[in-house]
Amino acid sequence: MSKSTTELRAPNENWLQRWKDNNIGWHHVEFNQHLLNYWHTLYLPAGSLVLAPLCGKSRDMFWLAEQGYRIRGIELSQLAISQFFDEHHLQPSVEASAYFERWRQGPFELLCGDIFDLAQLDNSDIDAVYDRASLIALNPQQRQQFASLITELIPSHAKMLLVTLEYPQDEMNGPPYSVAEAEVRELFGQHFTVNLLHSLDLLRNTDRYQHHGVSRMEEKIYLLKPDGNPK
Ligand SMILES: C[S@@+](CC[C@H](N)C(=O)[O-])C[C@H]1O[C@@H](n2cnc3c(N)ncnc32)[C@H](O)[C@@H]1O
Repeated sequence: MSKSTTELRAPNENWLQRWKDNNIGWHHVEFNQHLLNYWHTLYLPAGSLVLAPLCGKSRDMFWLAEQGYRIRGIELSQLAISQFFDEHHLQPSVEASAYFERWRQGPFELLCGDIFDLAQLDNSDIDAVYDRASLIALNPQQRQQFASLITELIPSHAKMLLVTLEYPQDEMNGPPYSVAEAEVRELFGQHFTVNLLHSLDLLRNTDRYQHHGVSRMEEKIYLLKPDGNPK
């Protein structure tokens, strides 16, 4: 299929196809360094429940579980979820339900379905959100929907660690999309205090984006604290 035909498909079908083709360049075997560096800034007690939206088969979920957290991941692709459990030698139970297929084992509950059906779940038990490559996987309209969902559905005490990318959008098509700091503040600033924790020049510090031909590429890490929660 030509690239232009691929681009015409609905976003969900494109993601499912990428998993079928094993075209998953975003997936890293190593844990995300920003997660390791900054997760402690959430002061989240072990046993807390972390929502990982658009989780793929991220190894970061395994790291979070090793720190004593429970994980609820949401992912469109069943292939991604089954690979996550296979690769960690875990045998999950699988239960069908109206909107999400529920894959569970130990601290992991991975829900196969569309994040935009999140309102169909009880989200009152979520204590924090870890977003790496979720917001930037969504187009501008979906980002607004996503931010509204997250801010409306998660409990008022929940904090969020958010990892984004910023680059001149006219130099490359998303996904991953560029999400500027101003947009992060616009999307989340009404409910959260948005703290930029770190900004990393990816062109200087890694060889991951050299071949994309962009003139600038930064990774930004934010801590989002609900207003009224000083810690
Ligand atoms: C760029 S990947 C990031 C995966 C993961 N966060 C990581 O760091 O490896 C985006 C993932 O979101 C999934 N996805 C895309 N749209 C989705 C949706 N509407 N609901 C649930 N998952 C979705 C894709 O299948 C893909 O696995």
